[in-house]
Amino acid sequence: MTSLGKDLLALERLSAEQISLVLDTAGPFKEISERAIKKVPTLRGATIVNLFFEPSTRTRISFEFAEKRMSADTVNVATAGSSVTKGETLVDTARNLEAMRIDMVVIRHTSSGAAQFLAERIESNVINAGDGTHEHPTQGLLDILTLRDRWGTLTGKRVCICGDVLHSRVARSNIWGLTKLGAEVAVCGPRSLLPSAIADLGVTVFDRIEAAIEWADALNVLRLQLERMLGGFIPSLREYNRVFGVTRERLERAPRDIIIMHPGPMNRGVEIDSDVADGPHSVILDQVTNGVAIRMAVLYLLAGNPPGLADAAKGAV
Ligand code: CP
Repeated sequence: MTSLGKDLLALERLSAEQISLVLDTAGPFKEISERAIKKVPTLRGATIVNLFFEPSTRTRISFEFAEKRMSADTVNVATAGSSVTKGETLVDTARNLEAMRIDMVVIRHTSSGAAQFLAERIESNVINAGDGTHEHPTQGLLDILTLRDRWGTLTGKRVCICGDVLHSRVARSNIWGLTKLGAEVAVCGPRSLLPSAIADLGVTVFDRIEAAIEWADALNVLRLQLERMLGGFIPSLREYNRVFGVTRERLERAPRDIIIMHPGPMNRGVEIDSDVADGPHSVILDQVTNGVAIRMAVLYLLAGNPPGLADAAKGAV
């Protein structure tokens, strides 16, 4: 029987069956968030720590909603206000939390590999909520669910990931997940923002946004990660928007309707214009809604399918 195992660290490690399992499991959980009383007892008694060592709005709040809607007890730990500021190591922090008998850790960290490092050293389930420039698996899963909701299948569909691929963990999770489910994937951006060996991942590379728009069924537009750039990657934000920005004028020349995605937070007027982000082809807020269901599904599966998904879907509290 397909399962996720102990941790969710990267979509690179999951099979197509495991990815589909999460997507299929998210279905019943979506309905729970539409109820007046958004709560089921599925994870009652479980204690989950959200360990965020880097800023986050969507991911942190989405995990917290998912945990609370499944009746888990949750604790949020951020760098500021924790003993990390006094020099405590990641492992010491986690081991101290484990000594208080926790069950799962959701971790966001600036360092690539931090989630795996932790998973190898503690018994609790570890979920990677974004590690450096490596992966952001739940973002990849929610992006794929949003596309599958629209298309029914990913097979043969063309998705272009646009912009700052070099610094993007979202890009890596999307590339692994989409290709495993049979989509064709491309990237588009200035060469300074594309990893030199990106084609080795089996993706097409576009140097011009116009060519990407002509090719794609969906664009996943990435944020320019200005905080990770030490300078010199692009001449200016204005120049970037002029050459690579996803604008209404460019989309109007597309040969077909293109789904527009963005993982957030957006730099409006830089990688994406407001009339595209808020326009008829945008599914950006659907991505956010799907994020809660995906995270509920991941928590449920890692908890070892606690009894009562059927009950949960029926609304037992
Ligand atoms: N998409 C995403 O990871 O957003 P946050 O950084 O706000 O969590």
